[in-house]
This record gives sequence, structure tokens and C-alpha cells, in this order.
Amino acid sequence: MSGKESFLNKVNFKTGELSVCGSHNKTYLSDIKDLFRDKDEVYKRLKENPLIYETFYPDIKENGNYVFYGITKIHPGKIGKEFFMTKGHLHIPEQITEAYLCLSGKGMLLEQKDNTVQKTLMEPGTINYVGESSFHRVYNIGNEPLIFYISCNADFEHDYSLLENGGFLDVVTVDDL
Ligand code: F6R
Ligand code: ZN
Repeated sequence: MSGKESFLNKVNFKTGELSVCGSHNKTYLSDIKDLFRDKDEVYKRLKENPLIYETFYPDIKENGNYVFYGITKIHPGKIGKEFFMTKGHLHIPEQITEAYLCLSGKGMLLEQKDNTVQKTLMEPGTINYVGESSFHRVYNIGNEPLIFYISCNADFEHDYSLLENGGFLDVVTVDDL
């Protein structure tokens, strides 16, 4: 499968799994330990090394005429006061926008553009549109897995440079609720 031919998929709203899945990736605390602000808590929790989030993508090749989609599942939990989250990235080219449809759970989309941050709620049925040149990261602010469908143009790359240059200007913690 490459995206050239039509195909049917089915997402399990409880687990996030796709019936037709090309890649299933798991990100543990050890993979993103430097991103959480509370370093003492990170150190304590590394022994247990919780699973933070998973992604499920069908095989759709990079092609500017194709639509790409997938599922992201963020597990519930916190490191100190900060909720479990994705890394956060920008799309290259920056003009590639993206839509997130929340299927289950409760989340907060953190966006940063031109040194301004914005937080937008995600809950079943919300559709978040991530515009051009927007660094975006998602937090699970609930007690159950946050599962959302993502879709964008299939010819793009992820740029994580913000994370090596001081990170986001703000984070999402229990104080946001
Ligand atoms: C794709 C997209 C999502 C994220 C996923 C993990 O552009 O926004 O599929 O890839 O939520 O995000 P990162 O890679 O920032 O950890
Ligand atoms: Zn994205």
C-alpha cells in the first residue's frame, strides 16, 4: 500500500489502533525526558519509564497530491504538574496545515507562532485546525487516553528545532485546569 489505490481503514476509538496500519510507534519518557520541566520528577519516574504516547499511521508515501492521516494516542499521566504530551513540531514546508479531530479523551493543543502561545481545548468532536508556521504540541489533560485523528498533505517533514532552542514559551499543567 502506498496511497495510490483506494483502501478502507477502521479506527478503534478505545485503543486508537488502525485495522490497516503501516507504522505503530511508541514514545516513552526516556525518549523525551529533556522536554518536561520538572527534572527531579523526570529522574524519579525514569525507573518506571511510562509510555507517554503512540502513533498509528497507514503507509502513504510522500506525495504533494496525496492526503496523509493517522491516529495519535496520548496516555493519561503527569510528570510533576505537567501533563503527558507529544514532542511538538513545525511542518516543513511551513505552509502545510493540519487538522486534528478528537475521538476520545480530553486534551489541550499548545501552539506557538511569532513568540505567541495559544491553548485550545480538545474533546470528542472538536476539530482543531493548525495553521501555517505554527509549532504544535498536544497534552492529555484528562484521566483516560486522548485519541485523535490527524490529517494533512502527504509531502511534509517534522521540524523539532524549537525543542533544542529553549522549547515552547509555555507548558500545560494542572494549574491550567
Ligand atoms: C503530524 C502530527 C501528529 C504528531 C503526533 C506526535 O504532523 O502532528 O501526528 O506527529 O501527534 O507529535 P510529535 O512528533 O511532535 O511528538
Ligand atoms: Zn503536525
